[in-house]
Amino acid sequence: MNRQSLARLRNRVRPGGVPVRADLAMGGGNRVPLPYPSGWFCLALSREVPAGAVVTRRFMGRDVVLYRTRGGVLRAVDAYCPHLGAHLGAGGKVDGEHLVCPFHYFAFDTEGSCVKTPGGAPPRATLAQYAVRERGKVIYVWHGHEAAEPDWEPSETPDDRFAPAATWSTLLASHPQEVMESFVDYQHQPIVHNVALREVVPPVAEGPLLRISFSAAIRLSVRLATITVDQGVTLSGPGLASGEVTLRQVGTTLGVLLTATPVGPWQTHLRVVVMTDAALRADSPRLRKAASRSVSAVAGQALVRTIAHQMGQDARIWNRKRYEPHPQLTPGESAIDHYRRWMRQFYP
Ligand code: FES
Ligand SMILES: [Fe+2]
Repeated sequence: MNRQSLARLRNRVRPGGVPVRADLAMGGGNRVPLPYPSGWFCLALSREVPAGAVVTRRFMGRDVVLYRTRGGVLRAVDAYCPHLGAHLGAGGKVDGEHLVCPFHYFAFDTEGSCVKTPGGAPPRATLAQYAVRERGKVIYVWHGHEAAEPDWEPSETPDDRFAPAATWSTLLASHPQEVMESFVDYQHQPIVHNVALREVVPPVAEGPLLRISFSAAIRLSVRLATITVDQGVTLSGPGLASGEVTLRQVGTTLGVLLTATPVGPWQTHLRVVVMTDAALRADSPRLRKAASRSVSAVAGQALVRTIAHQMGQDARIWNRKRYEPHPQLTPGESAIDHYRRWMRQFYP
């Protein structure tokens, strides 16, 4: 590699304008010790892909194109047209229920089959698809090792009664396993975040789910409330963690989602989504509903700010640490050991 291309690599700019240092992008050393895990990974919020939209997202070193037909069918497909390789996210259009390539106007149906060309019978070309799901107005794409078909569903995430009320995201020089490990690393909480946290019971693995029960008192960044998080969180594979936060003082419950999406080797897009449950309030009188909605919105913003602040504290460690395959744990840290054993199922 010559000096110029090395300099280009060092100066890669991530969204938000902060350069990612190439030496850090590999996990602190020149190797990638953890491969991409299998599971469901968040690629967008539903509102980022309205009917008729075609958007590109980076996922595991590749481009994935998300589109939604006029009839509302959401698809995630390989970015490159099987005809002559045009990038479907660079000028591709939705026409009714078809995705149309910008280069020669080949049209693909929602099964990925080429169904129309301007110049004669369509070839038997198929656009590769990713399994895609929408839960609680968030879009997840599947990555599997052996089979492309998912063998579990992201069912533990908030359902469609919930909708994102406040979000925050950042790009990390890290890996989803490292990010999610912080939920079982209880010892760093008082040191890094000044949060008192107590394990309720050890993590319980249920196939691809890991239920982590802790109790923590977290002060929101506005003088709204000190909240007690006592339900813990559920990890659904390495890509998402979900939980609920009840604000007793204001009588509302918020859904909280943390998603970690590998965009490249040792590069992870982290999202925090705070959701409000519209249905819970639907029965109340209109005034109470409006008041409650605005309280939820304010609480949602405050909670996102609080979590974002904590993630910023973690990021200082994550962006510079290396993966330690043989951690030297104390007896009080068996949750990390549990977590690591549970995590093994997501690698080939
Ligand atoms: S490259 Fe897509 S239609 Fe030709
Ligand atoms: Fe943390």
